[in-house]
Amino acid sequence: MQIVNADIERYLASFYRSDPQLTQVAAEGEALQLPIVNPAVGQFLESLVIATGTRRVLEIGTANGYSALWLARSLPADGRIFTIEIDPERARVARGHFARAGLSERVSVVVGDAARMVHKVAGPFDLIFNDGDKQQYEPLLDRLVTLLRPGGVLVTDNVLWDGEVVPGLVTPPRKDPADTAAIAAYNHRLAADDRLATSFVPLRDGLAVSVRRRRA
Ligand SMILES: C[S@@+](CC[C@H](N)C(=O)[O-])C[C@H]1O[C@@H](n2cnc3c(N)ncnc32)[C@H](O)[C@@H]1O
Repeated sequence: MQIVNADIERYLASFYRSDPQLTQVAAEGEALQLPIVNPAVGQFLESLVIATGTRRVLEIGTANGYSALWLARSLPADGRIFTIEIDPERARVARGHFARAGLSERVSVVVGDAARMVHKVAGPFDLIFNDGDKQQYEPLLDRLVTLLRPGGVLVTDNVLWDGEVVPGLVTPPRKDPADTAAIAAYNHRLAADDRLATSFVPLRDGLAVSVRRRRA
C-alpha cells in the first residue's frame, strides 16, 4: 500500500535535488530489488544532519549505499559515518559508490550482523539511521539509545510497513507477519520511551524521528 497519494508523491518529487550518481545508485537499487529509501527520505536525512550539526552517524542496513551516500555528502569534511551491512557483496558494491563519490575517508562499512556490531562501535553518535532487520528494531533499541548523544536523533525507517502495522487495513497481508508484529511492537515501545521524544512522520514508508532527551 502506498502511504502518500501517488500524485502528491510525484508533485513532491519535482522538488528533490538528486544528482547523476544518486540517480544511478537508486536505479541500481531498484534493479537489484533492494528496499532502499527514496530522494524524499534522503533529503530529509540531509536536513536532519544539518539541523543537528551532526558529525558522527551510525547506519544499520547499508544495502548498496544509497542512504549512506545522502548522509555522507551532508556531513562536514571531518564527519564520519559507520554503516553496518550483513551481506558482504552489498557492502562491496556500496564501498565502490563511496569511492566514486570521493567519500571513502568519511565512510566505514562494517560487515557483519548488527546485533553484534552495534557493540563493537563506540559512541556517541549525533544521528543513527536504523534501517536493518525489522525484528532487530526492538532488541537493539537500548543499545542505540546508549550510543546516541543527548539531543541526538534516532531515525527509524519503515515504521508504517506499507500500512500493515494498522490492524485490518491490508487484507490479506503481504508482509511477513513476524516483521509486522515486530515493527508494531517497536512503535509502541518508542512512543512510550521517556528517554526519547518521538514523532512518527508518514514520509514514504513512515519514519520515526526520536530525539534523545537531554536529561535521559
Ligand atoms: C532496507 S535495506 C537498507 C537500505 C539502505 N538503508 C538505503 O536506504 O539505501 C536493509 C539492509 O539491511 C541488511 N541487513 C539485514 N539484516 C541485517 C543484520 N542483522 N545486520 C546488518 N545488516 C542487516 C540487509 O542485507 C539490507 O541490505
